[in-house]
Amino acid sequence: MEMSCENDLFCGVNNASGKSPDEMTDLEKKHTPVIEAPDKVKAGEYFEVKVSTGVYMAHPNEYGHYFGWIEIYLDDTPLGRVELQPVMSSPSVTFKVSATHSHEGKRRLRALAFCNLHGVWEGEKEIEVE
Ligand SMILES: [Fe+2]
Repeated sequence: MEMSCENDLFCGVNNASGKSPDEMTDLEKKHTPVIEAPDKVKAGEYFEVKVSTGVYMAHPNEYGHYFGWIEIYLDDTPLGRVELQPVMSSPSVTFKVSATHSHEGKRRLRALAFCNLHGVWEGEKEIEVE
């Protein structure tokens, strides 16, 4: 079900997908996590998914304002989660994961990053599982 969350960053997941970095607001640039992963992977084989924050624009990282966790999903299937403390500059996390035969086909890798002041932000990358 689609929620209407206008002007409420803590309602649902914030997503600037479809926008190029040039078109993003500063808020979107600071919070959208960026995924690096292979375009194509084999079911059952491990591959690396790197999720980075602060790529388009730096985000603060102090106890009053920071990214508290990062999660990754293959479509809606959870693949991993890390908890973060504000002691690393622009957190980036590399997950080593695998997909199963049930995931064969074109899929969406999704990263969610939670900012304690600005809510959950999503970045995505298309990936093919064969
Ligand atoms: Fe923030």
